[in-house]
This record gives sequence, C-alpha cells and structure tokens, in this order.
Amino acid sequence: GAMIRTAVLGYGVVGKGTVDIINAKREQLKSKTGQDIDVKYILVRHDYDSDYEEKFVYDFETILNDSDVNIVIEAIGGKHPAYEYIKSALSAGKSVVTSNKELVAAYGAELMAVAKEKNVNFMFEAAVGGAVPIIHGVRNCFEASEINGIYGILNGTTNYILTQMTEYGLNYDTVLKVAQEKGFAEADPTADVEGIDVANKLSILMALAFDKYVPPTEIPTIGITGVTMEAIEAAKKDNCKIKLIAKAKKTDKGIEYSVQPTKLSNDHPLATVSNEFNAVFVTGNAVGELMFYGKGAGALPTGSAVMGDVIEIAKRI
Ligand code: HSE
Repeated sequence: GAMIRTAVLGYGVVGKGTVDIINAKREQLKSKTGQDIDVKYILVRHDYDSDYEEKFVYDFETILNDSDVNIVIEAIGGKHPAYEYIKSALSAGKSVVTSNKELVAAYGAELMAVAKEKNVNFMFEAAVGGAVPIIHGVRNCFEASEINGIYGILNGTTNYILTQMTEYGLNYDTVLKVAQEKGFAEADPTADVEGIDVANKLSILMALAFDKYVPPTEIPTIGITGVTMEAIEAAKKDNCKIKLIAKAKKTDKGIEYSVQPTKLSNDHPLATVSNEFNAVFVTGNAVGELMFYGKGAGALPTGSAVMGDVIEIAKRI
C-alpha cells in the first residue's frame, strides 16, 4: 500500500481530536484501507504543550510544497485563511477534508469544482451534525428520491444549553461556560447562540438536498439568546420543550427556510434529543421520513467524522 501523509491545519478541538484518532487507530486504519496513514505536519500559530511538537509547522507553504502530503485536514475554522489554504491545496493536487461549516457554506460549490477539475477530493462530512452522517445521507441515500424537507436540531452547544436550562433550571451563562469547556462551542460562541452556525449548516444541506444555494445570511435566523427561563417554564406547563429548529421545505411557492427557537410537544421525537446530540428528519418523496441522530459536537465525534472522509479518500488513492 501507499503512504498517506496528512497535514492537519489547526490544533483546536477538532484538530487535536483528529490527530489523537489517527495516532490511536493507526493499525486499524492500515487494515481498513491497506494504507499507512500518518500525520506529517500540524499547522499552528503558536506553541502548545503536546506530544506532537515535532510535527508543528508555522507556515502553510511548508505543507503546500511538500509533495508527500496527499491529504490536508482543515480544522482552523472561519473563512480566512481557511479558504485560501484549501483552494491552493486542491489546486496543488491534494485532497482536502474539512469540518468548517462557515467555509463550506460560503465557498463549497467553488471548492468542489476545483477538486473535480484537479481530480482530487473535497469532503466535509464533519461540517454538519458532527458524528451524524448527514452529508453522506443527503448525497447518497436519496439518489432515487426527491428531497422535500429538512427539519431538525443542528447545533450541539445551543441544544446543550436549552437542555440544561430545562432539566436542571441552570442559568444560561453557567451552562454556556460548561458547553465551551466540553469543546462544543465555537471559539467565539456568538455563532452558536445567535443561530448563525445552524444557518451555515442549513445552507449546506439545502444546496445538497435541493440543489439550491441560499447564502446563510439570507436565511431568517433567530438564536437562543432571547429564550428566557420564564419562556422555558411556560412551555413546560404546556407539556412542551423549546428547541432551536432548522427547517427547509419545498412548497408551491418555492423553498421556505428558517432557523428559530420552536416550541415542540414533549411527545415529538425531537423533544427527546438532549444535550450535544443533533437530530434531523429528511423527507423524500419515495422514502418518506428518515431520521439522522447522534452526537453533533465534540472532539471525538467530529474527529471521527473527519476520519471517515480521510479513510474514504485513502481507499481511492
Ligand atoms: N459549535 C458547533 C455545535 C460545533 O455546537 O454544534 C459542531 O459543528
């Protein structure tokens, strides 16, 4: 088998989780893919205490110019410089795996086209739903069916906050801090709590499911910062829970879409989706309703989705 040399960009929650998985599972990866998969570089901005210090590099050029590197794993987050790095990696004939929803929502179509032209892969399963294989699901499981609707919970941080407020009466600020410590929240949790992270994910799903691109900024979006304990208690009295719901639906008038806190009856399947779990219903004309469920945030769930893509690419190399 060949040698697969990866470079991991960024050493935050996802980057570190991915490096840990590659090192812990090296033998298993070898038997699965027939290839020896290793991390050659980790791109960082400053030094960390780490077992992998000898792999640290500080400028992307080192990675770009090393023809040994066949897969770049982008885990920096944000649009820039992630976009420039990914585009130049693809253009140089390297495959790219990313967990960066903001990036994919903004530049996904363009980067997929560059990958196609260069005959390499651009994969982003980890960008939506963490460990939940929703991207593969939407792309592959509905080939013979038309998708009509998407409905679900797509952010671990806010679902964790709402769950803890509802179940234990804990206050918003305390719980947000815990969500950050657990590695669910973005570096700047504003994107989570204002619903922007969900809008990015919904934009990606709509592009794949409906073949229609709606920029995240054009999705009517309300986050959870206005959800008070009073509102949660009032919902409880009605046997309901408040969940941050992303929805997109084909109608006679076109596609309707939104992200907003929504009161769900306790017997709704999504009302039982707790903490960092995500769950999405996808409705297709031939298949009816499918539900995707699993951990939507955190180092290992997200790292494992990244690795799923890496393994798929390794098998093709
Ligand atoms: N901040 C995101 C979340 C991470 O809480 O869902 C996973 O995309």
